Amino acid sequence: MVEPHAHDKNYTNLDTIAVHAGRPTPGPDVPMNPPIVASSTLHAGGPIGYHRDGNETLGYLESVIGTLEGGQATVFSSGMAAANAAFDLIPMGGVIVASQYSYTGVAVRLGELHDMGRIVLRLVDVTNASAVEAAIRGDGVPANWVWIESPTNPMMEICDIRSAATVAREVGAILAIDNTFMTPVRQRPLELGATVVMHSVTKGLAGHSDLLMGALVTNNAELHHEIVERRVLLGAVPSAFDGFLAARGIRTLSIRVERAEQNAQALAERLLDHPAIKTVLYPGLPSHPNADIAKEQTDGPGTVLSFDVRGTADDADKVCKAVQLISFATSLGGVETLMERRRRWEKENVQVPETLIRMAVGIENVEDLWRDLKAALDTIV
Ligand SMILES: Cc1ncc(COP(=O)(O)O)c(C=O)c1O
Repeated sequence: MVEPHAHDKNYTNLDTIAVHAGRPTPGPDVPMNPPIVASSTLHAGGPIGYHRDGNETLGYLESVIGTLEGGQATVFSSGMAAANAAFDLIPMGGVIVASQYSYTGVAVRLGELHDMGRIVLRLVDVTNASAVEAAIRGDGVPANWVWIESPTNPMMEICDIRSAATVAREVGAILAIDNTFMTPVRQRPLELGATVVMHSVTKGLAGHSDLLMGALVTNNAELHHEIVERRVLLGAVPSAFDGFLAARGIRTLSIRVERAEQNAQALAERLLDHPAIKTVLYPGLPSHPNADIAKEQTDGPGTVLSFDVRGTADDADKVCKAVQLISFATSLGGVETLMERRRRWEKENVQVPETLIRMAVGIENVEDLWRDLKAALDTIV
């Protein structure tokens, strides 16, 4: 596999790492960018041999993601594939503690694994540090894994990651943080004490809504080996073409996040004053209940916000259909702004308000975004 070249080691600033890590080692006529190695099989005699076991293009991508997060990365064909590879590592009948609000796919999958007796699922309010501690310690049966999103999707709750990591270490549990919403330029869970970071690379890392990919990053060499083995056996390997696109997307991660975050902050503040709005959930607002912890453990509030509109689910749907510049679509982390009423999905957690809209803010001009959003909200006042 590709070794991180000198650039990966010489720069410590994340903006620079995003641009320079995971490239071929410089030399005369060496390409600037990772080559797209589209080959399922390789001539015998080397350490790889077959694309499911490794791929040069994906190796470069893993190098930049791993360097950004401070661990070793393994990429998968979607975020869900990465999550399932991690769940496969939970011992038979083992305990996993997870956020009571999680991305729908993860929540449904964990529920399935619990119902079939494969794992024991303990759901917890991740904003309550003592409840998290009690859930991890268990009543004599400590957790094997802890799976936390911070912020949670779509309720935007913040978990005190350091505190969860301390307890997890004490009982020997593996703390995994889904860092999809924040990306490593805003939150680095391994530095906060987590052992695994999961990404839907589909979102902010790749950044252009043009591919599906996932990643697991860890600073534990043995666990990294087990994760790679899961990918080989489960077979959820991305293509070299998507690997190339994802690495290209990461080059602009820092400035994309910076711009989208400025837009998100401005929109969150303006939404507070709109008569159609009941609540705005964004860690960058002083009114956010976990704003202090967010500030303490992140380098910014990120690019996603949720808001609850006054009225009914039909009113919220009306707003989603009324936007013209913003797209009524699922997903997040792309350059374009998207929004959707989360409960339109049949399997979304019924505790999520029916009138809650999640907005994934892009890098457009903020005045254009506000004009569009305000006009849509005005239709229900
Ligand atoms: C927080 C979070 N985790 C995981 C996933 C799953 O990722 P993917 O769609 O790449 O499988 C998503 C997708 O929306 C997500 O938002």
